[in-house]
Amino acid sequence: MTIAIVGGTGPQGSGIGLRLALAGETVILGSRDGERAASEAAKLTSEHAPLGVITGANNRDAVASADTVILAVPYKGHEELVGGLADVIGHKLVVSCVNPLSFDKQGPVGTQIPDLSAAEEAARLLPEANVTGAFHHLSAVNLHKVETDLSHEDVLVCGNDESGKAEVMRLASLVTGGRGIDVGALRLARHLEPFTAVLISVNKKYRTNSSVALTGVPETGEK
Ligand SMILES: NC(=O)c1ccc[n+]([C@@H]2O[C@H](COP(=O)([O-])OP(=O)(O)OC[C@H]3O[C@@H](n4cnc5c(N)ncnc54)[C@H](OP(=O)(O)O)[C@@H]3O)[C@@H](O)[C@H]2O)c1
Repeated sequence: MTIAIVGGTGPQGSGIGLRLALAGETVILGSRDGERAASEAAKLTSEHAPLGVITGANNRDAVASADTVILAVPYKGHEELVGGLADVIGHKLVVSCVNPLSFDKQGPVGTQIPDLSAAEEAARLLPEANVTGAFHHLSAVNLHKVETDLSHEDVLVCGNDESGKAEVMRLASLVTGGRGIDVGALRLARHLEPFTAVLISVNKKYRTNSSVALTGVPETGEK
């Protein structure tokens, strides 16, 4: 399986890509500039050898070569970027970790958008794709500290297709060493995405990198 990360030069995309490559997956970091992505992949490879297969390409070429596509871009420009990749994404599995957030003097808050969540906007723009939401609450800082154990963090996964969510939960386990939790339908991204504003606010107050862990969910993963 090959995983393309659209926006893979940013801290979140490169952090997820780094963890997946360390776990043995084949990763292509995507960028609007293929050379920038190649240089980020080379940097990660030199810093974390032996890393496995992580390369860089422009977003379109990265997606074309992949089975699964992770969207790790800012919400600003999301519609144009994702819509422009629809033909090459086709029926692929898509994972959105995009958080539409706004900031003012009171701090961060979720941004209200027409499709109600970035993941649902992606599903509208990519009608053939299997769109899911996950990785919204993982801190890029922690992802890059590869010695930091993230197995206590839960990755909340939403989507309308069971097999797609199962694959994303597998990827979640590779990224954190912990578990993914199937929270339900794609529309629950409306709650997962803005919840990140709470974590950012906590991070600022307590000078930390907070994350999410649910209690009461069986460790076996049995439903
Ligand atoms: N940072 C975190 O800790 C964190 C945690 C959880 C979720 N997230 C979410 O993950 C997403 C990415 O976060 P990030 O911090 O990595 O973001 P970022 O650094 O602002 O952007 C990621 C990459 O997206 C590309 N990009 C920027 N503006 C673009 C535009 N208008 N159109 C197309 N591509 C654009 C850039 O790559 P190129 O210039 O190379 O194309 C950039 O390196 C966001 O939606 C964020 O809410 C972030």
